[in-house]
Amino acid sequence: MIVLTGDCREHMPSHGPFDIILADPPYGETSLAWDRRLEGWLALARAALKPTGSIWVFGSLHSFMATAERFADVKLRLAQEIVWEKQNGTCFHADRFTRVHELAVQCYPGEAAWRDIYNDVQTTPDAAARTVHRKQRPPHTGHIDAGHYVSHDGGPRLMRSVIYMRNAHGRAIHPTETPSALPEILIRTSCPEGDLFGDFFAGSGAAGEACRLSGRRHLGCEIDPDMAAKARARLASVLPFDGGGAS
Ligand SMILES: C[S@@+](CC[C@H](N)C(=O)[O-])C[C@H]1O[C@@H](n2cnc3c(N)ncnc32)[C@H](O)[C@@H]1O
Repeated sequence: MIVLTGDCREHMPSHGPFDIILADPPYGETSLAWDRRLEGWLALARAALKPTGSIWVFGSLHSFMATAERFADVKLRLAQEIVWEKQNGTCFHADRFTRVHELAVQCYPGEAAWRDIYNDVQTTPDAAARTVHRKQRPPHTGHIDAGHYVSHDGGPRLMRSVIYMRNAHGRAIHPTETPSALPEILIRTSCPEGDLFGDFFAGSGAAGEACRLSGRRHLGCEIDPDMAAKARARLASVLPFDGGGAS
């Protein structure tokens, strides 16, 4: 687990190729000093990605629409997106709705086939109770009537694309900190255990923590030296993944 201090455009490319890249760049939508849209990083990230890897980018619809051409220019194809729903959000003067969500979009190299991009389907155990209908069995399996039973935990289901998760409000060390359980879902889906994860805008190290907990190798980069130091301290305090094997 390493967090470099500096500009990701300068420091990250030489450390590739990465199996997965996550980028939570400044959206460039507020007057905050650090919130300036950054140019050039996407092409460099794309060049530092393995052919079977993918890039998850966080953003708003505004920020994706404003940068759509950059994705096309470097031949990154849009695969799917998730919505992170938060318990609270932001609201600007002219807004009609309080914004309580962020988007994260997964893209992959245009010359690759989607089926070749690493994917480990994630399921959720929190589905609601449901009635499971059974079909009539063929006679040679013995006489079992069609019927139904109630599955009280609902059984495992494919994870939903809208993911509700409380943000780190009140205990965050970064003003736009992601709860580490969110990148952990993306990491488990898109990066094999032991592989290399590139965290281009590391912030508080939330994604690094997710890597440490899930057994992926992490290399992050953060331009703000104070924040980078906080991220390093955070990661040093997280117990490493032990692989889950018998001891
Ligand atoms: C939206 S925040 C990321 C927050 C992070 N997801 C977290 O959970 O803490 C974007 C971060 O990118 C950093 N940043 C801005 N420009 C950068 C650059 N050129 N290279 C590396 N980091 C940069 C900012 O300092 C900021 O901490």
